[in-house]
This record gives sequence, structure tokens and C-alpha cells, in this order.
Amino acid sequence: MAVLVTGGTGYIGSHTVVDLLNNGYDVVIVDNYVNSKPEVLNRIFKITDKKPRFYEISVQDEEKMSEVFEKENITDVIHFAGLKSVAESVAKPQLYFDNNVGSSKVLLKLMNKYGVKNLVFSSSATVYGVPDHVPLKETDKVGGCTNPYGQTKLDIEYLLKDYAKEHKDANIAILRYFNPIGAHSSGLIGEDPQGIPNNLMPYITQVAVGKRDHLNVYGNDYKTVDGTGVRDYIHVVDLARGHLCALKKLEQKPGLVIYNLGTGKGTSVLELVHAFEKANNIKINYVICERRPGDVDENYADCHKAYEEMGFKTKLDIVDACRDSWHWQKNNPNGYGD
Ligand code: WQD
Repeated sequence: MAVLVTGGTGYIGSHTVVDLLNNGYDVVIVDNYVNSKPEVLNRIFKITDKKPRFYEISVQDEEKMSEVFEKENITDVIHFAGLKSVAESVAKPQLYFDNNVGSSKVLLKLMNKYGVKNLVFSSSATVYGVPDHVPLKETDKVGGCTNPYGQTKLDIEYLLKDYAKEHKDANIAILRYFNPIGAHSSGLIGEDPQGIPNNLMPYITQVAVGKRDHLNVYGNDYKTVDGTGVRDYIHVVDLARGHLCALKKLEQKPGLVIYNLGTGKGTSVLELVHAFEKANNIKINYVICERRPGDVDENYADCHKAYEEMGFKTKLDIVDACRDSWHWQKNNPNGYGD
């Protein structure tokens, strides 16, 4: 009765593995460390006193993945593995389609072969493209993605919908994350981007720890409360719990379901910066710059469906996330190290 977590040493994957282990699940991780480090496994053990079984494999490697399905009694899959840099996806679209869509195809083929019926998929609010209104509901139009990364998430969603039509006994939860931030309260696991952070919070924490001189605020002429981009920042510990709610939901054999995972509240770049400064009593220097291509003015979630159908709603807020992100970065100035 094992849960297979692909990408389980990544930022969201590792937080979800901790929650699974702490709730008594038997966990098997597959990861190729393309965007994570082996040290994460040591941190998971420190937090949970448990060691999930681990295979260093690319999900695209059908032969090696098949051996995992042969060896392990997998009943559920949580699929995080995938390349996730918006900027890199613009530069290398084919790599992103081959990797993200290709690995999902391999996974579905093996799930069918080995009779594994339950899948939770890590999707993204970017599938909504440029929203013409907020908050966004699961029934809102998707498409018009502003980058190949987001398009791969949408392509995989279509793959899953077709798979569910063909396999009536499949139970699939598509989770559309908004903007994950924060870290586990232990400060032992957190977001560790390779190179220059694309995302806002890790950039802020690297300024706070002295690794970056200042934050570039990409545009202050958006149609928002203060002109800077507005997003729905969900604490990664809440997000992890959302995956356990989804696993429980799949026990009810719902077929294919789609949920937004967010707070339902929009926060601007400057509001997050000021919340971070106040929560941690640290000054964050910033410079207002040009807009970043592909950015939208605002997007945040209507998250009623997740609450009504699986009892999920967030418990932590951006102040908790600012405090926890700083606790992680302060204790790990160089992330998980080299
Ligand atoms: C948030 C806001 C920027 C960095 C992307 C993906 C999404 C998800 C999270 C992938 C925007 C501004 C940012 C900086 C800034 N998954 N910003 N200076 O673009 O909303 O979402 O990442 O990891 O699927 O699409 O997140 O954190 O990059 O940007 O001003 O140095 O912060 O303009 O308004 P985004 P983000």
C-alpha cells in the first residue's frame, strides 16, 4: 500500500512527503535530482524519523520505472516531477514538452499496466493563461498560457482527461497550485532554487541573507492595488496537506476532479515585501524595473470547491510564510549546499 511520489525531493514534494510520513503513509520516492539534492532525504529523516524508499530515476525512463512498479506495491501516485522554470521553458520549450509531458505519458502507461488507479497531479494556475477576471474558478476557461511551462501543465491535464475517459476506474485529482511560498517550521526543508531565483519569495530571502543586493520589482504599472503584480501565495505546508486531502478524496472513487489550491486572497509584490520586513524586522532593498514578459496583472483563486468537496482550506497566511521562509533561509544560507 505505497504512495509513489515522483519529484519527492523537490520543494513541494519534500513537504508533502513529510506530511505523508507523519500521517503513517508508506512512501516511495522517485527523483533524478535535476532540481533538488540528496541532502533533502537526510532532512526528511530528521523531521520524521522515517526513511522513504528512494530510487534515483528519471520518470521518463520506462524500464527503470517499470522495475519500481514491479517491486513496490503502489496504490497511489502523486506526480510532482517536472521542470518548472518559466524563464527556462521559454528558452528551451522542446526540453519542457519532452520532459514534462513525456514523463507523464510513461507514468500513465505504467499505472495502467500495473493496475494503479489513483493519481494526484501537480498542476498550476498558469493553465488559466491571462485571466479576464479574478478570483479564478476551476470552471473558468483555460489556455492562452503565457509560457511553455504553463502549456505543458495544460497538455498534461488534457492527457489525464483523455485517460480518465478511457479508464473508467481511474481516480485523478488535478491540483492547480497558485503561488507556493514558505517552509516547514523546522527550518530543515525549504525552497532551494538553482542559480538566480525566478520566483519572488526565494529572491526576497536571498536579499535578506545578503546573497543578492536588492530585489527587482518587475513593474509597478499594473492595474492592481499598488501597481505591482498580485498573486495568491499559499503556504507550502498548507499545500502539502492539500495533497493528503486529495488522496482521501480519491478513496471515494470520484473519477477525475480538479481543484484550485490557494488562499482566495491576492497579495501584491510590495505587500509581500512589506509583510516580510515586518515579520522578520529586516529591510529589503528593492528597485522598480520594467515588467517581466509573460506576467499577468493579477491572479488569485476561488477555492470554495476544494473546501466543499474535500474539506481543504488554508490555515497559514503570508505572515507565517514570511517567517518560515526566513527561518529556512537564515539556517541554510546556501540552501542544501553543493
Ligand atoms: C510573482 C510576482 C512577478 C520575481 C510562477 C509560475 C507558477 C508557479 C510560481 C512555478 C509577479 C513578481 C517575481 C522577482 C518580482 N509555479 N516578481 N521580482 O510568475 O506568478 O508564477 O511561479 O514555480 O506556475 O507561473 O511567480 O514568484 O515568479 O512572480 O517582482 O524577482 O512577483 O512580476 O508579479 P509567478 P513569481
